[in-house]
Amino acid sequence: MLILGIETSCDETSAAVVEDGRKVLSNVVSSSLSFHQKTGGVIPEIAAREQIKAIIPVLETALSEASIKPKELDALAVTIGPGLIGSLLVGVETAKTLSFVWEKPLIPINHLWGHVYTNWLQTANSRLTAINFPLIALVVSGGHSDLVIMNNHTSYKWLGGTLDDAAGEAFDKIARFLGLGYPGGPAIEKAAKKGNLKSFGLPRPLIEAKNFDFSFSGLKTAVIREFERNPKLKKNNLAASFQQAAVDVLVKKTVRAAQKFGAKEIVVGGGVAANSSLRLQLTAGGKKIGIPVRFAPLEFCGDNGAMIASAAFFNFKPKPISQIQANPSLHF
Ligand code: KG4
Ligand code: ZN
Repeated sequence: MLILGIETSCDETSAAVVEDGRKVLSNVVSSSLSFHQKTGGVIPEIAAREQIKAIIPVLETALSEASIKPKELDALAVTIGPGLIGSLLVGVETAKTLSFVWEKPLIPINHLWGHVYTNWLQTANSRLTAINFPLIALVVSGGHSDLVIMNNHTSYKWLGGTLDDAAGEAFDKIARFLGLGYPGGPAIEKAAKKGNLKSFGLPRPLIEAKNFDFSFSGLKTAVIREFERNPKLKKNNLAASFQQAAVDVLVKKTVRAAQKFGAKEIVVGGGVAANSSLRLQLTAGGKKIGIPVRFAPLEFCGDNGAMIASAAFFNFKPKPISQIQANPSLHF
């Protein structure tokens, strides 16, 4: 089955053709990152304007790179939320129009499920082995930090999420405050590699709490306080100490969830899943309890259309276009 996936929830415009939810025939991503590097964050109005310009060329390239004609597609899938309303509308309205004109079913997809399904995507270099249920999915992105238990593709339970800042949001805000650049995740990771992670004793919020919620705002404030107290401190050390505190919390709570629910695997998706410390330490944490940990291939950690097409294949629920609407505050 061939699905064209469309993703425009934040500052990326992406379209991809995916076969049977796994094989990526094309995945084209156009980003307004260069604009937003200048502003140090996403300006919704600018993101949406760029997406209006990018969407048609991105779609054309995705089809031509996959050597697929619209009539060969089985369905279209589009992110309906969560995200920025202006950005979501560009993808949703385009997808509805194409679904009508091409007479193809359209599947509305929650962006967060997209990040989960990046683990099913196959790259030229990766060989996918079967993924076993029940599994714990950790989604860590710029807007979300969530833990979900999946019993199969259609039965799941949300276990908890962030009460304030998302993991990626904390990376972004701290990087901006320290003047390390945008996006903050890769900037902090780079600085942390040159720093000593034991330099600062930072809090690990909710690490011992018996729930599966996260809170990164207090940690962010503690980092900012350290810098305000001593602006001459070594930023690399502060970045390394912050990253370790965030990773400690994510690893501990995810492993605990896997233990409590008898998960056979842990899968991780979202922009923060690109973080090499998280990848190493969560893999080690899973090993300790005998559970494999899968991470989205690096090229699919950020927002992309392939993950939307994959989520649609495994949850094939087309809806009439009159019932499909952008929903900025959608959750699990
Ligand atoms: O999933 P994503 O591309 O967009 C959202 O759905 O939010 O995630 C973007 C987030 C940003 O906060 C970015 O700073 C973070 O992922 N990120 C990272 C890394 N690469 C991206 N965070 C930590 N380490 C990284 N290497
Ligand atoms: Zn995302």
